[in-house]
Amino acid sequence: MERCPLDNASLNDSDRLLGEGNAEPTGAELTAKLHIFRTYIPMFQCSNFRHLQGATMKLSLYQPNDAVEIEQLFIQTFTNSEGQSEGAIVGRLVKDLISSTDPSNFYGFVATEADQIIGGIFFSRLIFEDGTNSFILSPVAVRTDFQRQGIGQQLIRFGLDALSKEGVELVVTYGDPQFYSKVGFRGVTEAVIPPPFALQRPEGWLAQSLTGDQIRSIKGRSFCVEALNNPEYW
Ligand SMILES: CC(C)(COP(=O)(O)OP(=O)(O)OC[C@H]1O[C@@H](n2cnc3c(N)ncnc32)[C@H](O)[C@@H]1OP(=O)(O)O)[C@@H](O)C(=O)NCCC(=O)NCCS
Repeated sequence: MERCPLDNASLNDSDRLLGEGNAEPTGAELTAKLHIFRTYIPMFQCSNFRHLQGATMKLSLYQPNDAVEIEQLFIQTFTNSEGQSEGAIVGRLVKDLISSTDPSNFYGFVATEADQIIGGIFFSRLIFEDGTNSFILSPVAVRTDFQRQGIGQQLIRFGLDALSKEGVELVVTYGDPQFYSKVGFRGVTEAVIPPPFALQRPEGWLAQSLTGDQIRSIKGRSFCVEALNNPEYW
């Protein structure tokens, strides 16, 4: 178990404030010491140790040498939540996305904790006939023992921020509206944003604008990358 970096900071600071030798602390020193105790004691009392681990979580761009570890993460996470066959399907999807998508049509981001990948997210280009610069978010996973600590939302926001800086105008996804609404996605109809295939669950078709403008209706057809070009996924 990693030590919380604040452990050292708080102990060193309180040692310093108590002073070396036997000199009595001044009023100002006591006030500062109390402030440190008020700030840090609730953290020591926190029974959820994951909260402390989360303090060292890092978000970064996916690198090709992450491929094997991230495929395993998706297989295991989806096996745990949806069963073995879904784990295998999502694992294959991730493998295909990584291996067959041109880098200009692909973004991946990872969350790491103590040099282990604990979360991953992929975005791939969605081409619209009207030229809207758009990507689809799919899939995303957070390792089962790190779920429900805000990591999934942080990973998504990190990815959206990076895409926005690259000039991406629109991001869509296809999943649980309850979860994705926490990070700015809203339900859209297939008439407003045409999906590449007819949807089996239209209520899961979600989008958000990265330009600050309202989502506008897009005319014409859309096309996804080869890895997603399978009606079973839709
Ligand atoms: C979905 C997932 C990426 C969310 O990541 P996370 O780090 O657990 O999510 P966060 O902690 O940021 O957000 C928690 C909120 O997300 C929602 N949420 C998390 N897991 C959920 C799930 N399995 N079903 C529905 N909602 C879920 C809840 O609203 C939750 O809020 P609550 O704890 O107050 O109820 C993660 O749980 C996961 O990998 N699940 C398995 C794979 C999956 O379903 N991926 C998404 C489809 S591509």
